Amino acid sequence: MNYHVLTLFPDMIRDGFQTSITGRAVEKGILTLETINIRDFSVNKHNRVDDYPYGGGAGMVMQAEPVCLAYESVAAGLEKKPRVLYMSPQGKVFDQRMAEELAAEEELVFLCGHYEGIDERVLEEIVTDEVSIGDYVLTGGELPALVIMDAVSRLLGGVLHNEESAQFDSFHDNLLEYPQYSRPEEWRGKKVPPILLSGHHANVEKWRREQSLIRTRQRRPDLLERANLTKEDKKFLANLEEM
Ligand code: ADE
Repeated sequence: MNYHVLTLFPDMIRDGFQTSITGRAVEKGILTLETINIRDFSVNKHNRVDDYPYGGGAGMVMQAEPVCLAYESVAAGLEKKPRVLYMSPQGKVFDQRMAEELAAEEELVFLCGHYEGIDERVLEEIVTDEVSIGDYVLTGGELPALVIMDAVSRLLGGVLHNEESAQFDSFHDNLLEYPQYSRPEEWRGKKVPPILLSGHHANVEKWRREQSLIRTRQRRPDLLERANLTKEDKKFLANLEEM
């Protein structure tokens, strides 16, 4: 996977990505990260990349030409037109399914805006997907791009170690995770659920599945409607309803 990020704050992207698990994946050569500073493509003698909005209003708008030139500098090196993700609260809301779909791409280009947005004309020309990370407004697209790159990267082969495997996470099958416990057996008077100490693998698995179902029903009933439930799961949930 090769990420290309068009941004006014390349350091923010590099610093955010090159630590921890994603940083390790870059070192291993599973991922590459290229940052492109849009300001390097300014067509203004003062190095500006923004201007006042036509029609008036607060704030500044990023101009079309520097964004387009920055994009073209990336596209020139690629064999086919890549997916270009514009980070914006007006976009489609990112979720695990989108992460899985994006993980199948070879190249991903992220376009991070600042100020009051980017001139619509260049968005029409280059953007394939407008993506939001949730219903709130951030100061720029860098954190959303990092969120998406993180969620996509951990799905790529070799990025996670076996013990960190993405296979059994929350949302993998639209269920939330069961609770986890580690040593000591008793902490400040609170005991680990005894079944986890029983050594009975099948019972532990059953308990965990039930905890996932209980949590999902309590906290995210919207997910439960989309979950792949077995006959036993349905029976367990029906019993809960009666209680
Ligand atoms: N830019 C500003 N807010 C955003 C959000 N919630 N998602 C994606 N991009 C953004």
